[in-house]
Amino acid sequence: MSECKCEKVEITTDEWAKVDEIIERYKAKPGSLIPVLEQVQGVVGFLPAEVQHRIAEGLNLSRALVYGVVTFYSFFTMVPRGRHIIRVCLGTACYVKRSEEILDKLKTELTVSVGKMTEDKRYSLESVRCLGACGLAPVVVVDSDTYGAVDPVKVMEIVHKYE
Ligand code: FES
Repeated sequence: MSECKCEKVEITTDEWAKVDEIIERYKAKPGSLIPVLEQVQGVVGFLPAEVQHRIAEGLNLSRALVYGVVTFYSFFTMVPRGRHIIRVCLGTACYVKRSEEILDKLKTELTVSVGKMTEDKRYSLESVRCLGACGLAPVVVVDSDTYGAVDPVKVMEIVHKYE
């Protein structure tokens, strides 16, 4: 059996209790898989196999069906994501305006690498190729908020607003 190289994130007893509460609330309602997945992801931050199995059993659905839905919708994630997603654009227009420095600043200040989540589960850091707002370069998006003409100092002020 190959060993998983993904980072191990413990799900707390409190989080499991909330997961069970959500399942309990929805288990008698047909067609409730998607709202259950949304709410559980809101609690745990992601939907790893062990959580999917709990949901499948609780809602009396097959594991394959739950897995199929989780992997179909990009909103759902099987890897840990923080409460806020920070996306730094490294597309050409942003790159020439030194967006890589913004990314480096975030990596250093938040002690996180690209594609990973901070230890306190507050942020996930991602880099993207063009967010379609090149006129605002360099661009950073936090959750659904777009920020333009960002610099490495300003970026920390921006992200600290997100608890
Ligand atoms: S290159 Fe950054 S928004 Fe287009």
